[in-house]
Amino acid sequence: MIGGTWRYFLYLYGLLIDILRVCDESNRLSASGINRTQFPLQYLGRWYFLAAAAAPGTEALDIFTIMDNAEFVVRESSEREKLYFRAAIRVKDGSCVPRKWIYIFTDRSIELRTEGHPDRITELFSTNCHHCIILKEREKNNSRLLLYARSSQLEEEFMEEFKNKSKCQGFKDILVIPQQQEYCHFEE
Ligand SMILES: *[C@@H]1O[C@H](CO)[C@@H](O)[C@H](O)[C@H]1NC(C)=O
Ligand SMILES: *[C@@H]1O[C@H](CO)[C@@H](O)[C@H](O)[C@H]1NC(C)=O
Ligand SMILES: *[C@@H]1O[C@H](CO)[C@@H](O)[C@H](O)[C@H]1NC(C)=O
Repeated sequence: MIGGTWRYFLYLYGLLIDILRVCDESNRLSASGINRTQFPLQYLGRWYFLAAAAAPGTEALDIFTIMDNAEFVVRESSEREKLYFRAAIRVKDGSCVPRKWIYIFTDRSIELRTEGHPDRITELFSTNCHHCIILKEREKNNSRLLLYARSSQLEEEFMEEFKNKSKCQGFKDILVIPQQQEYCHFEE
């Protein structure tokens, strides 16, 4: 009985130390709005999908496990509050899968909406990496963090920052996109 209590106490203590160590202020996720200074210039052009994170035991990362790499191009729309996204996904079997979607920005909210997916809510988070974007995507009961960068090779410290922030959020399953194969080229 006593032994059990002690074990439990030590377990809680260990958990606490874990949380304190990983989750200091700098590792916490903080929401970031859309930067309107040069909007949408800073979001246009090419991006690479580098990592994703989710809570253990969820299926939130399943759709990414078949991926070898993914490249994105963001284009302006004639409508001010929309951005067009195109993705070229290299599947592990070697094939290329194109994807398209439209993000809708709302002036007052820090959330993005995806056209055709009314349940999907995307939020932006700040990062020390100025050439990266961290997004949190929520849809029904799935929630995941996504890391994109301007180059396919990211400095180790920024990947570590993403991992730190993910763990802090309880998203301990972290998937680093393998990038073993060539990138698919966009067909114009
Ligand atoms: C917004 O973007 C501008 C220009 O790209 C940059 O100088 C500024 O630091 C950004 N602001 C924030 C809060 O990130
Ligand atoms: C949401 O979670 C519940 C139980 O955790 C599960 O039964 C259900 O299928 C999930 N729904 C979706 C859309 O994933
Ligand atoms: C990640 O977290 C650890 C533990 O708090 C810390 O030592 C390290 O500097 C952090 N790294 C980054 C890049 O934030």
